Amino acid sequence: MNAPHVLEAKDVIAGYAPDLPILHGVSIHVDAGEVVSIIGPNGAGKSTLVKAIAGLVRASSGNVRLDGHDITGVAAHKLAAEGVGYVPQTGNVFATLTVRENLVMGGAPLAKAAALQRIEEICALYPILKDRLRDKAGFLSGGQRQILAVARALLTKPRLMLLDEPTASLSPKAAGELFDVVRGLAEDGAAVVMVEQNAKAALRVSDRGYVLAEGRNRIEGPAADLLADEGIGEIFLGFRRDAASTEGAG
Ligand SMILES: Nc1ncnc2c1ncn2[C@@H]1O[C@H](COP(=O)(O)OP(=O)(O)O)[C@@H](O)[C@H]1O
Ligand SMILES: [Mg+2]
Repeated sequence: MNAPHVLEAKDVIAGYAPDLPILHGVSIHVDAGEVVSIIGPNGAGKSTLVKAIAGLVRASSGNVRLDGHDITGVAAHKLAAEGVGYVPQTGNVFATLTVRENLVMGGAPLAKAAALQRIEEICALYPILKDRLRDKAGFLSGGQRQILAVARALLTKPRLMLLDEPTASLSPKAAGELFDVVRGLAEDGAAVVMVEQNAKAALRVSDRGYVLAEGRNRIEGPAADLLADEGIGEIFLGFRRDAASTEGAG
């Protein structure tokens, strides 16, 4: 018998108003050690899907399972303690609090001693944060702020990490560093879901991808296959193969 997926969202119907679904039955699954990208046009429902998984938007139908255990409708603050980390696209750190205070807040579900211990571990993982613990988060660079946002969510050692556009508004260099952090999460055994506008860059660091359009699953598959498929790139992702690959063509 196969182990359950870390995340399995099945036939999720959800939206922001009754009788006005944004997601019309979306399904995804993610295993431990995988980075899975959710891509697709603006307004496709990518953020809504992640919020439905994170307990911030109520699913009117379908279900969400974490390690086989039904978490549909469980509130966001409870999910943090159950092993779900969520980094929203905006407002993911408190600019007027110090780096250390931001980390302490991420550890709210933990006992104080455990939180402090975990902050030590995270500082060892991301030395850039250790050097800036006393600085207000608002003084960090965009890339450092995103690393702090991920680190905050890591306090509770999530088995599932949900990242909504973690590289939006970062320079290519900072985005590359953030993608390294994302790969590191998966290498440490987490299941990682990453929503990205930059489909090509995201797929390059992902194991698999799902293309959503108009609140529905459109295409899914290994990231390499999605990258190599000219049709998908042009129709859904706004890129052409010519710049996508240096592999020899037949
Ligand atoms: N808080 C909200 N209230 C009402 N409608 C929303 C809200 N957030 C998003 N929407 C609508 O839901 C649809 C999908 O949005 P979203 O999930 O943010 O798409 P994506 O992340 O793929 O760009 C859009 O039509 C958007 O206008
Ligand atoms: Mg979005």
